[in-house]
Amino acid sequence: MRRKIIAGNWKMNKTVGEALALVKDLAPLVAGKDAADVLVCPPFTALHAVKQALGGTNIGLGAQGAFWKGSGAYTSQISIPMLADVGVQYVILGHSETRGRFGVPEPDMTPDLLKTFGETDSGVNIKAQAVLAANLNPIICVGETLDERQQGHIDDIVTMQVTRALENIAPELIASHVVFAYEPVWAIGTGETCAPDEADRVCGVVRQAVAQAAGQEAADAVRIQYGGSMKPDNAADLLARPNIDGGLIGGASLKAADFAAIVAASG
Ligand code: 13P
Repeated sequence: MRRKIIAGNWKMNKTVGEALALVKDLAPLVAGKDAADVLVCPPFTALHAVKQALGGTNIGLGAQGAFWKGSGAYTSQISIPMLADVGVQYVILGHSETRGRFGVPEPDMTPDLLKTFGETDSGVNIKAQAVLAANLNPIICVGETLDERQQGHIDDIVTMQVTRALENIAPELIASHVVFAYEPVWAIGTGETCAPDEADRVCGVVRQAVAQAAGQEAADAVRIQYGGSMKPDNAADLLARPNIDGGLIGGASLKAADFAAIVAASG
């Protein structure tokens, strides 16, 4: 039985003061809700302060990304040891907003676009290896654009993203530390949710891809979240599906009551 995992991705929202106010409101609402792992992923600037505020709560801490090198002349980047140092346990990788795909299929990217846009499948893989080497947990996002969906490429795209993300990673590490998030790009921040049956089906495709890459044991153990306009009113339906082990929540994680309602819907 996989333990549910509910994560709030705050994206580029919340000053330190606002972040602390949100945690203060959230902590009592989710206290004692031990059926799921609950975590928040504030912007880098609020990580340290939020970590201090989470002491004594059942809320964990995630970061929204990281650079793969441990240190060096990489202006603007944040390393995984830096994140570990402030108490981060999870790192989101390959989010569609950091892949920068925004509707541009990866095969169509010219070298210029690739430089402008962010993470690639192989970049996600290198970062996942670095996150695991630091004994942290990567949350690896995968998902198709609307164009890819309309052209019937959903399963191919998701399988390719999963397969590439897991290259050269030991099955035992995948089983114990890796989380996937199926986030259809067209459902993010749009209010349009993927129908629960379809979300469950594609999460099943993710699991099958894990089985092909790392074996059935890892596939059975790995947790797969759904992300994309998950809200209090649709969370229970999504979270009841056999292949959906949690949620990666954007907009609704910015309000304590909404995020707490989603945690409550997880069981
Ligand atoms: P929304 O919940 O705002 O659609 O965002 C989902 C997401 O991108 C989480 O990472």
